Amino acid sequence: MGFSIHWSWFAALSCLLLMAGEVRCDCTETNMQIEGGHYKLTKKLETGSLLIYECPEGYYPFPASTRRCQSNGSWKPTPKRFAPQRCRLAECPDPSVLENGDVSPPQEKYFVDNETVYECYSGYTMRGSSRRVCLPNGKWSGSTPICSRDSGDNCADAGVPAGASRTGSTFGIGDTVTYSCNGNLFLVGSSERVCQENGQWTGKEPACYYKHTYDTPLEVSEAFGSAIKDSLTTLEPVDYTEDGRKIRISNNGTLNIYIAVDISESIEEEHINHARHAISKLITKISSFTVSPNYEIVFFSCEIFEVVNILDFFDNKIKLSTIKDELENFQTDGKHTLGTDLNSVFRTFLERMAIIRHRVGEEAFKEHRHVLILFTDGAYTLGGSPASTVAKIKNFVYMDQASESGIESREEYLDIYIFAIGAEIFDNDLQPLTVGTGGSHYFRMKNIENLQETFDEIIDEEAVKGLCGLHKGYETASRDSKRKMYPWMAFIIIQSGAFSKKCFGSLVSPQFVLTAAHCFAFGDLPEHITVEIDDGQGKVKKVKNFFIHPNYNVNAKVNEGVKEFYDYNVALIQLERDVQISSAVRPICIPCTQETSNALKLVGDSTCKQQEQLLFKNYLEKLTFLTRTGNVVNEKDVHAKLGDNRDDCIKHALQAEGITTKNVKDVVTDNFLCTGGRTPFRDHIACTGDSGGAVFKNYEHRTIQVALVSWGTKIMCRAGGLVESDDTSRDFHINLFRVIPFLKSILGNDNQDEYAPLQFLES
Ligand SMILES: *[C@@H]1O[C@H](CO)[C@@H](O)[C@H](O)[C@H]1NC(C)=O
Ligand SMILES: *[C@@H]1O[C@H](CO)[C@@H](O)[C@H](O)[C@H]1NC(C)=O
Ligand SMILES: *[C@@H]1O[C@H](CO)[C@@H](O)[C@H](O)[C@H]1NC(C)=O
Repeated sequence: MGFSIHWSWFAALSCLLLMAGEVRCDCTETNMQIEGGHYKLTKKLETGSLLIYECPEGYYPFPASTRRCQSNGSWKPTPKRFAPQRCRLAECPDPSVLENGDVSPPQEKYFVDNETVYECYSGYTMRGSSRRVCLPNGKWSGSTPICSRDSGDNCADAGVPAGASRTGSTFGIGDTVTYSCNGNLFLVGSSERVCQENGQWTGKEPACYYKHTYDTPLEVSEAFGSAIKDSLTTLEPVDYTEDGRKIRISNNGTLNIYIAVDISESIEEEHINHARHAISKLITKISSFTVSPNYEIVFFSCEIFEVVNILDFFDNKIKLSTIKDELENFQTDGKHTLGTDLNSVFRTFLERMAIIRHRVGEEAFKEHRHVLILFTDGAYTLGGSPASTVAKIKNFVYMDQASESGIESREEYLDIYIFAIGAEIFDNDLQPLTVGTGGSHYFRMKNIENLQETFDEIIDEEAVKGLCGLHKGYETASRDSKRKMYPWMAFIIIQSGAFSKKCFGSLVSPQFVLTAAHCFAFGDLPEHITVEIDDGQGKVKKVKNFFIHPNYNVNAKVNEGVKEFYDYNVALIQLERDVQISSAVRPICIPCTQETSNALKLVGDSTCKQQEQLLFKNYLEKLTFLTRTGNVVNEKDVHAKLGDNRDDCIKHALQAEGITTKNVKDVVTDNFLCTGGRTPFRDHIACTGDSGGAVFKNYEHRTIQVALVSWGTKIMCRAGGLVESDDTSRDFHINLFRVIPFLKSILGNDNQDEYAPLQFLES
């Protein structure tokens, strides 16, 4: 029945009296109506029944959202004549927290459908949405507008979400910003964020919620979907059989998923049906991935009803296909008991983990990931707060390394997601129970009816196949460790007559490799070219075709004093067939695609411009490309000189061999990024064999290619290797944002049946 802990003494008393056989009175419906809405009752007018007010979309019940029937026949809280129950128009948090800009119109309060426009003071540029509408779920459309100026800091201005206050206004490595919400709003997401070396803030932008703010199914499926996709796809796949079907090779499994659904308020069978269908849907979706997890599934109120026992997976007693039967067969009759015991749910999960560790041994257990997914309103009445049990679970999975340096790599072994569902949610109790890095782990949903829809939209296997840029962030002992760090890397060998030429390339879709146009010579044919990508299906890939940018012409400016002109130095190689995608072979993200917006966590309709502003936010942007010595690849660190720094960088092009023009813009067009030199950072310099390789930025889990290695002012090294720049040496890389029409014409072409096109942004 889920009495809240906040009225606990009375709830406990009521239970005792009941057991002692005390007479109890039914409640009445007198004065219970709500203006503009209606209500429903979980147990008619019996003691313990919950009256839940419902309002149309964009409205919320006020002053109470629920009332419970007491044993003496009165409702709690008691309806007050001077504060009649009604449906109130939803409000959005105050947007005028914008720094360095104006918000119009200024209003004291903002309601559903109210529009706001944002403008930055001169000298500041805007990221995010310049126009926002207050939505029926109590949130602003689009994303937080941020007015910032290049400060040379490592991270972009973190912004201030509507309704929030921020402390911290420097954004260098290690700098921290903290957030709090104003008034009666509460914070969902990261209250503290730290600027990391890779230029990204830790955690996720927080948001300020009212009690009536909730997440839409679309928002949840985007956020939860991308998080679960990341954990599913960074795992090792199970082996494939000859006909490509998945099989489980080991009973050990590496991913354990624990699901718990609160049914304490679910007197209606319908509610439980929604829950079981939603779980079924989630499991179906997960099974489209190459991993097959083990599942523990429980329903709970004051007792635990175990529907699927995870240990059966280890004993081979249950198959994925039977989970749905188990869910269907679960009956709630006679399982109505008093109270809700959330703590014992976590205790059950911890016990299961302990048995698993005992079964598989400590070493194997280290490779087990645990994902806990809970559906509850958080109104626990029995068993006390689960906080200490959650702490134990963390210790158990982190292997008590919490204080040591090993902690970072163990954090990804545990995620606790909470779907807060119900008319009255205990956010303060629930939010601290979430665990995990990266995106959201706390979702606030209006009702369970939406859940199946949410999971339905979450993921489909085709979308996951193309999930670009996903990689392991650190080296492991595995044989193909480097491939997993750079799963998109490709080596290109072109046999021109007696010569063979080597270039780097990057896999940009299962069938296409991006490289430099100058790798090819006049007269080269597809059969002269091979691409090396070890996907377990033969390392050497045959080439079907290749496409050179139509504007590329190395001789175009011979008469203007530019012996070799490398503008538009890009080419795409089409392989004879798709490579086999796995954790070691996967495309890199390229600009202006929808996938890249997803990787950058840009919500809603994003633009190419937004991506560019995010990827090139500083006038000294740290970038990376690869070099090869023998069989080893290494990262070269460089800084693109942008804005005011650019002219000083590109002027060195005039010293290159074969350049006699005095106008540097003849040589280095706006399509190039410039790196190299020794100030303010000593950059690495490109070697001959690095050509065609991706110049990229690494984010947590994802890699985005922003340019490709084209040419340099000096040949400082031929074979490859980590060589540092001298004072005057410079490298020039084709900025991919400047060659989108070419990339789109081939990769985005949906007028063909040979390959799946990439989805490019409209603008
Ligand atoms: C019912 O019990 C509550 C709590 O003890 C009390 O505040 C309320 O006045 C009682 N109502 C009636 C009608 O007796
Ligand atoms: C904002 O919404 C409220 C409630 O619908 C409305 O009365 C008000 O006129 C709106 N304000 C503006 C500026 O549109
Ligand atoms: C599975 O676990 C057993 C111990 O229970 C271990 O001997 C075996 O190597 C493991 N298999 C895999 C594939 O991890």
